[in-house]
Amino acid sequence: MKSNLRLSATVTGSFLLALIFSGGLQSCKHDPFFTDGIDPGDTTVVVTPTNPCDPATVYFESQVLPIFQSNCALSGCHDEASRQDGVILTSYQRVMETADVRPGNLSGSDLYEVITETRADKIMPPPPRQMLTSAQINVIRDWITQGAKNLTCDVNAGVCNTDNRSYAQHIRPIIQNFCQGCHSGATPSGGIDLSTYAGINAVIPNNRLVGAIEHLPGFTAMPLGGAKMSACNINQIKAWVAAGALNN
Ligand code: HEC
Repeated sequence: MKSNLRLSATVTGSFLLALIFSGGLQSCKHDPFFTDGIDPGDTTVVVTPTNPCDPATVYFESQVLPIFQSNCALSGCHDEASRQDGVILTSYQRVMETADVRPGNLSGSDLYEVITETRADKIMPPPPRQMLTSAQINVIRDWITQGAKNLTCDVNAGVCNTDNRSYAQHIRPIIQNFCQGCHSGATPSGGIDLSTYAGINAVIPNNRLVGAIEHLPGFTAMPLGGAKMSACNINQIKAWVAAGALNN
């Protein structure tokens, strides 16, 4: 099953419409629409997004902020009320005001230093919380070296491959980026530990996992306090669940 997702962009004028429904199809074959759910072999792109995501560019809102929200901007840590060391990691504005990020200057940025520290009394998140994954650290690194900008792109435009989703390859990284910071450790949020396959499996019955990420009535919307995930991330999880939620 391939779902061709289209952002409901405002299409002004018949010229753009004509482009989309005719020759425009060919020209976007290899455009890099996706930063997640990437399928380089997929050439069945049908829509030209107005603001496509470039895989070489880091987008704060869709890639950096979710890491902060699920690992740092927590109660007792760096949410608005707790502001440990004066650092608030809840939004672009707060990050730039309080976290000593120096655009383009990695070694001068305290934020980068603390997430790559090796000393237990200095590293963030502090133990027993898990260190950020190297993929997450690299996203933050690239964001700073690219100028620590507040860029956004159409995360819901383009093609999303939901075929044969693998737990290890596709589902695990999504959960790691958007959920695991809260849902892990000695006292995981809601008593739900999503750092293991067994823990994820435990919230599949009664549609809890899908209900939470789809923001369905009767469930607490996840990621808590964050934006809804991209349709591609949600659809990949749904496809994996529908195929039996295998440990593949
Ligand atoms: C900022 C912390 C935080 C993040 C990030 C987060 N959660 Fe949660 N989650 C919670 C808390 C706290 C609860 C318990 C809330 C409640 O019971 O109302 C919860 C509850 C849940 C529930 C139970 C919901 C229900 O109504 O039964 C599920 C399922 C869940 N989370 C999955 C996820 C998934 C999947 C993600 C990532 C896409 C995620 N969470 C991200 C904090 C978080």
